[in-house]
Amino acid sequence: MNNNFNLTEKSIDKKVKLSGWVAKIRKLGDLIFLDLRNSEKIIQIVITNQNQKIYQIAKKLTKEDVILVKGIIKKRKNINKNLSTGSIELIASDLELISKAKILPFIIANQTDGLEALRMRYRYLDFRRENIYKIIKFRSNFNKIIRNYFDKLNFIEVETPTITKITFGGASEFKVLSKNHLGYEYGLAQSPQIYKQLLMYGGIDKYYQIAKCYRDEDLRKDRQLEFTQLDLEKAFTTKKEIKKIIEKLLFLLFKNLLDIELKIPFQRLKYQEAIDNFGTDKPDLRYEGQIYNFNPLKDQLKLNLEKNKSLFALISPKFINEKKIKDYFKKEEIKTNFYFFNFEKEKIVNSNLKNINQINILNFLNKQKLNILKEEQFSILIIENDDLIAKEIAGKLRIIIANENKLMKKEQFSFLWVENFPLFELLKDSKLSPMHNPFTAPKKSELNKFLKLEGKNKKELLKLNSEAYDIVLNGIEIGGGAMRITDPLIQTKVFKLLDLNEEEIKNDFSFLLEAQNYGVPNHGGIALGLDRLLAVMLKIDSIKEVIPFPKSSKGTDEMMGGPTKIKEEDLKNE
Ligand code: AMO
Repeated sequence: MNNNFNLTEKSIDKKVKLSGWVAKIRKLGDLIFLDLRNSEKIIQIVITNQNQKIYQIAKKLTKEDVILVKGIIKKRKNINKNLSTGSIELIASDLELISKAKILPFIIANQTDGLEALRMRYRYLDFRRENIYKIIKFRSNFNKIIRNYFDKLNFIEVETPTITKITFGGASEFKVLSKNHLGYEYGLAQSPQIYKQLLMYGGIDKYYQIAKCYRDEDLRKDRQLEFTQLDLEKAFTTKKEIKKIIEKLLFLLFKNLLDIELKIPFQRLKYQEAIDNFGTDKPDLRYEGQIYNFNPLKDQLKLNLEKNKSLFALISPKFINEKKIKDYFKKEEIKTNFYFFNFEKEKIVNSNLKNINQINILNFLNKQKLNILKEEQFSILIIENDDLIAKEIAGKLRIIIANENKLMKKEQFSFLWVENFPLFELLKDSKLSPMHNPFTAPKKSELNKFLKLEGKNKKELLKLNSEAYDIVLNGIEIGGGAMRITDPLIQTKVFKLLDLNEEEIKNDFSFLLEAQNYGVPNHGGIALGLDRLLAVMLKIDSIKEVIPFPKSSKGTDEMMGGPTKIKEEDLKNE
């Protein structure tokens, strides 16, 4: 094979020709040693001054120059156990400089001095680092396993358009202008959602795709403007079947890529249980501790609580540091009352509440039957706020306290299905919004109730549940899906409840509603966020590191310098 770096002692005395980058140069008397690197390997090259022609070329080499070297493989005297080629070296007989490298902006090594912004600006140089190359290759193997898996299940990969029509709910769609349609806009697909439904209607009953999605949102460490989904949909299916398909796929990915055997089926929680016990719909269950409803303690604590305020608490084995909590609230701009008690040998040794009846608190705690109460030391941190907000703050602190006290089992991969999501949520302007997307079917057992409820009855509508589910890994939502609406009457009712008028429904969705009249199979599916899944598998904090060419946290392309200003003439007719 050309440029084969797979050399071992079996290659001794063979003539070879190798090209690569100069990773290291050492000059020792009459000898020059080079480390020659290709994408995966390094081999030592020896140049002697007996061959003056190549010795003179070698003398001028600097790091990251690209060279071509010919010679013979010989056994090495000092074996380098860190290299797979460490027992051999190439004695050069010919050397050619292919491309000269200037001094690089950062060190090409796993431990580099290059900060993220610099590495992203020179991402092509970053790829030369072994750990980055490994991530890119891991991703390629990961995709291969996914494609093989779905191929075996007889799913077919269908590419759907990414330049599409902007429809309702597309607040975060990128807009696309075309010189042929001045004054009009396309949108970039946020997901293949509608297309995959239409594929089902068309009898393409097992679809999957590794799909690019685009969302014009604020970026976070697990959010990019452009990201990749494993998107799938199946006709004549059930939630149970979709979950099984995903569990088996994840089992395969972890087994083949990390040699980890996941326990399937994964744990399940209802949305409401997740919110009540962990203050979030994506709980990280690598820490068992939960949050507790302390409302029954309201009277005993003699707090002058405003009406409708709730108490949610965390109980942890370490003492609470009041200043740290205050600093955290300040940093996160959280405004809330909180109370803490540090207990030692069943006595409160520190608290920000005066005159508390310790016995009442202990009695209440004893009723909760918590193991932690048997410990010599423990603490309680109570958040007082509106019910949902109190749970949310307690949920966030749960993670912070677990991390600070090293209670999080970092080595684990903790999967969880969250199901029984509400169908709607309430927006700030008191409009209803779909909790998943507007095509999600109301919960089968609540369909009659759904059909009877009118738009004005928001309170009852908000109690309805849906056929949606999420999959969570280590506290990160790595996927979401649902069974879909197939009946145009139900679909129209959902659009109306979401405050779309007849005209808007017609403009945006008449094609979909019409399609639902021509014989539609029941169907459902899911999309996994592959960048997020990869980052968790590789224990990498930000998805940027698993995306070959990511955008910066501000959404800019540091390498090419995008986005660029729109030229006036591009907005005018030719
Ligand atoms: P959803 O919007 O929940 O569902 O997206 C599915 C998964 O995609 C990932 N994800 C993202 N990853 C990186 N950057 C982003 N900006 C980003 N946004 C979402 C998440 C998420 O769980 N069509 C539906 C799926 C379905 O119902 O079948 C959809 O797109 O991991």
